[in-house]
Amino acid sequence: MKLPCLLPCAAALLGFQIADAQSVATSSIPRLEKRGQATQLIVDGRPFLILAGELTNSASSSMEYMAPYWPRLTAANMNTVLAAVTWELVEPEPGKFDFALVDGAIREARRNHLRLIFLWFGSWKNGVSSYSPLWVKKDQKRYPLFLPENGQPLTYLSVFKEANWQADARAFAALMRHIREVDGDARTVIMMQVENEVGCPPGSRDQAPESTAAFNAPVPGALIGYMAAHKDALVPEFRQYWEAAGGKTSGTWAEVFGNKPMTNEVFMSWHYALYLDKVAKAGKAEYPLPMFINVDLGEAMGEYSGGGALPIQLNVWQQGAPSIDILAPDIYLPNFAEWCARYHRSGNPLWIPETRGDAANAFFAIGNHAAMGISPFGIERSADASTPLAQAYGLLAQAAPEILAAQAAGTIKAVSLNAQHPTETIQLGGYSFAFSTVRMRQPPPPAAGGGEGQPSSYAIVISKGPDQYLILGSGVQATFNGPGPSAAAVGKLEEGAFVDGRWVPGRRLNGDDIMLNYDAQNKFIRNESGQGIRLSGGPPKAIRLQVYGY
Ligand code: DGJ
Repeated sequence: MKLPCLLPCAAALLGFQIADAQSVATSSIPRLEKRGQATQLIVDGRPFLILAGELTNSASSSMEYMAPYWPRLTAANMNTVLAAVTWELVEPEPGKFDFALVDGAIREARRNHLRLIFLWFGSWKNGVSSYSPLWVKKDQKRYPLFLPENGQPLTYLSVFKEANWQADARAFAALMRHIREVDGDARTVIMMQVENEVGCPPGSRDQAPESTAAFNAPVPGALIGYMAAHKDALVPEFRQYWEAAGGKTSGTWAEVFGNKPMTNEVFMSWHYALYLDKVAKAGKAEYPLPMFINVDLGEAMGEYSGGGALPIQLNVWQQGAPSIDILAPDIYLPNFAEWCARYHRSGNPLWIPETRGDAANAFFAIGNHAAMGISPFGIERSADASTPLAQAYGLLAQAAPEILAAQAAGTIKAVSLNAQHPTETIQLGGYSFAFSTVRMRQPPPPAAGGGEGQPSSYAIVISKGPDQYLILGSGVQATFNGPGPSAAAVGKLEEGAFVDGRWVPGRRLNGDDIMLNYDAQNKFIRNESGQGIRLSGGPPKAIRLQVYGY
């Protein structure tokens, strides 16, 4: 049965091609595919590197507000925008749908050569149910709320009530059906985020009777059976938590995991996962775009929402929500590299839907963790062609085919250096590269306006053969060694750019431009080869290098 639409002609007015389920070729729908060592997003049949930004929460509720921003996003070298679609605006009355804003976002994205990832602000946004429609909010008897230990309900829909997930899943399915109808051919929309940073107060558990009954019942076989059969594949901290409670393979939640606040979080994670799986599954039945959830991070209990897909809960979420393809961290915390590693494991590909606009982090995640992409938050406020992020995106976009092929082949590495971590040696393709932050032979002129703090130093290195490399980066220099114990020097070095996917060489670099060893007086240190590569700070550049051992 087709659900009624408040704007039945919207798609036709916009000139969209209406595609029915049968006419959307399944093979052309954006999908995730394991290619060699990486899981990649395939769009229009080819791997796609997501160079994105996420709009502030309310931006996409007004096309007038958004109007000036679309071209700025394109000018800042983005290829994708993450935009909220809210349940309250999509289903203002039960069963009556309004997709005008969805259509508007698709139309503007196309006009500005951008793809879209929609964020479904349905039952929860940051744990709270503020985006559920008013008819849901007001009818708490039908759509019950989370009941904490003190008995005062929170404005969070309860995961234990069937009416809640049924209503959310119905709306999400209607949204996915609409996207298939208006976008199944053009594929402007490439992924969906299901809900937003779900979770409840740390260490707590819903006191609804269904929750208490489930907590006192045996841990479901779907979870405990998996744990028992795949002990060695569990994330170590989850396995340790289970084993510290005795490693039992049957029993209630408290018996299996111990009677502790963290056990409440394991239990709530499982039940959030079951709920989100039902919503995602209903949506995929209409249009099976890749789907992910985003995660509010923190180290200690109390610094994040309980029940979210924190690193310790990865296996719980993966078993509870097979329709969710990616558990994606929102990385605002400073130890970016550690968070990347915690989410790039257990078969989970790395995709970062929210973070800060940091060019070095983008290079690091893409080069070291085969990230599908990255998306700084609040992007309409900061997008500008002159920012370091825009410059980094520009180079990543040029080199995307090389990067994606190297992710699959496992022939790519990255470094991100700063005052705390000024050097790093990487081994790739037979040679090792000793990277450090760049030392300029002539001090650079002072930055206009007094400078803006520490410049970024980062690089991606791609091995292109036994002695050939493509290096992209800014603010770094490197000497090399190998193969074996031998020293190595520059055989051939050129800067250049990719134009329509083809390498177009620029200057051939030699002489001063490959000598790295000089003293405080700017004189070369004699009797040392000291050859290497140097990528000065500022907009990142691409170089191709051939080395030889001696
Ligand atoms: C994380 C949320 O997921 C976003 O929607 C937004 O609220 C940011 N926090 C704000 O920093």
